[in-house]
Amino acid sequence: MLYEQIRTGGCLSYLIGCPETCAAALIDPELHQVDRYRGLAARHGLRLRYIIDTHTHADHFTGARQLARIFDAPVVMHRESPAPFADLRLEDGDTLHLGDLRLVALHTPGHTRDSMCLQVDGALFTGDTLLIGATGRTDLPTGDAEALCDSLFHKVLPLDPATRVYPAHDYKERSSTTIGEELASNPRLARRDRTAFVEMMRQLNLSAPTHLTEALRTNMSGGKTVDQLLADSAAVVPFMSLAELHGRLQRRANDFVILDVRERDAFEQGHIPGARHLPRGQLELRVNEAFPDPTVRILACCEFGKISTLAAATLRELGFSRAVALDGGVKAWRDQNYPMETGPAP
Ligand SMILES: [Fe+2]
Repeated sequence: MLYEQIRTGGCLSYLIGCPETCAAALIDPELHQVDRYRGLAARHGLRLRYIIDTHTHADHFTGARQLARIFDAPVVMHRESPAPFADLRLEDGDTLHLGDLRLVALHTPGHTRDSMCLQVDGALFTGDTLLIGATGRTDLPTGDAEALCDSLFHKVLPLDPATRVYPAHDYKERSSTTIGEELASNPRLARRDRTAFVEMMRQLNLSAPTHLTEALRTNMSGGKTVDQLLADSAAVVPFMSLAELHGRLQRRANDFVILDVRERDAFEQGHIPGARHLPRGQLELRVNEAFPDPTVRILACCEFGKISTLAAATLRELGFSRAVALDGGVKAWRDQNYPMETGPAP
């Protein structure tokens, strides 16, 4: 039933499926692994039927929306999910057919209001409700320690002790556990008393996850991460290497324009010799007067090589079909001790 556990740092996602029918589901997919999921599904000959998020993640970027589009499968979440892109909203006890498998949703609020565990074939995918030797935290948006206590002690832990538990996180390279093992050794489950449990959760004092605001923004809205925006641009823009540019400058090639899109003070402190200056924020405003000829080859550059990728993509969209971006940016150029000029643009 379980085909793959896919690890992204401490985040775990799962590819499960019915061996008879090849119907499959992805649980808690991570955005950066989209190509890997495609590859794994193809390798195992699986048809993805459901893309499931066990809850609104605050610490990583969900790949559900992109995968749903790629596989033409619905995004499945709990009814309480704020995500506008959730196509199929489950309630407690709802069952999904996955070929011959039956996937049962248990609403287990606490880590978030929309948390659910998925029970299938003697296994339980617990999201962040129950982790190996820990539980999900309850101090992030919609977290509720009392609800987590009820979910754990009244829904999850009464299940068959032999149930294999697959959590959405583990930071110590462990892959699974069982209900019985957690009952015996999980320190957070030591005190069943509600008040004591809530007090323990309050005192955990955990640091905020990295990317918290960006993860919540994108996972709750379906919007893109900054990395995605850059990757989308990088996918449609060719790059020029620093060495290639250096060679061109040495040959005094004049068949292209270097366009520095940083702010004025950065440009004046040091730029690539001969570069023209047009800040990214003014690109659309001044492009017509700056570049009347759309066949000109423009090399966009910026400090780190990221904003210039966006600029080159914009230029291409505007019809400058030969626009390219410098691979590495002015900082990398400077670090290589390639020549620089200072002062205002001519
Ligand atoms: Fe989480």
